Amino acid sequence: MEIIERKTLKEKPAENEPLGFGRYFTDYMFTMKYTAEKGWHDAKIEPNEPKPFDLATSIFHYAQGIFEGMKAFLQPNGDVAVFRPEENWARMNRSAERMCIPQFPVEVVQEGLEDLLKLEKDWIPKRAGTALYIRPTIVATRVMLGVHASTEYLFFIILSPVGSYYTHGLEPTRLLVEDYYVRSSLGGTGEAKCLGNYAASMKAGELAEEKGFDQVLWLDANEKKYVEEVGSMNMFFVLDGEVITPSLVGSILPGITRKSCLQILRDKGYRVSERRISIDEVIEGAENGTLEEAFGTGTAAVISPVGLIRYRDKDYTINGGKMGSVTKMLYDTITGIQNGTFPDEYGWRKIIR
Ligand code: COI
Repeated sequence: MEIIERKTLKEKPAENEPLGFGRYFTDYMFTMKYTAEKGWHDAKIEPNEPKPFDLATSIFHYAQGIFEGMKAFLQPNGDVAVFRPEENWARMNRSAERMCIPQFPVEVVQEGLEDLLKLEKDWIPKRAGTALYIRPTIVATRVMLGVHASTEYLFFIILSPVGSYYTHGLEPTRLLVEDYYVRSSLGGTGEAKCLGNYAASMKAGELAEEKGFDQVLWLDANEKKYVEEVGSMNMFFVLDGEVITPSLVGSILPGITRKSCLQILRDKGYRVSERRISIDEVIEGAENGTLEEAFGTGTAAVISPVGLIRYRDKDYTINGGKMGSVTKMLYDTITGIQNGTFPDEYGWRKIIR
């Protein structure tokens, strides 16, 4: 693939510097254009530098855009591994379909990602709990104000060395159950990874943060009764020996870490179910002691224990505010597969050479 070189390279964060999430960006990015006449074309690697855009570009007005989140990890033998990229590309093309964005050629973006990672290998952080976060994105680039699907798009992949998504690392998170605002409704865009979902979640997220919570736990839009997800994570509950995650009813993002956890749990013989779970069932379990654990799963958040849930002004502590054994097993297994310290029984590590 064509590489346009930059004149000077950026300074990389020091090895012991706390990376946070999405604060540093590497030297290069992958880009590819779409026009109605040419289809997807002009795939290349170029310097990751600011781009000038006409302010009438449709993405700024109507948010016709989608993204993905993946991670690359340095293996003990020096190889680079990406966790299940084919799953992200498949989901991204499903999101594209929902948002009237043309399907992209998976083999071209995979090649672009591999070339980009080979070029940026030195940016992959080495410390435990860190990774090189991969952010593929498609935005509508036609300059026009009519509310129609764009006829031009830009596909890009930027890379960011990251640490923990939460500022407090693996400390259990505190969730506020939101029973006024909604993230998504049936027939909406909740199962697509589109930009607007995240914009729509910010009001409740900010209010929750003001009250000292990490995130909002969303309920279904129709009855405000069933647990959906956390926006940056899918949810799991260990209730009376059963591991339960909300079924993908159409308004929930089909997480790849979620899917991986389900497979690990089933193969290890846990009692697992994907079903609707009401907030009343969760609260009842917290009150009578049968709610053993709660945790969230996501690419950025990995496996995050939940230590406290507030619902209707009452706080419920889960597992004494500590990480439970199922959560720990999944954290160790998923990160072990990603870091190359566990055998890759499922073939989830895509090695880039
Ligand atoms: C991810 O986990 O990669 C996400 O996209 C969630 C969030 C950081 C937006």
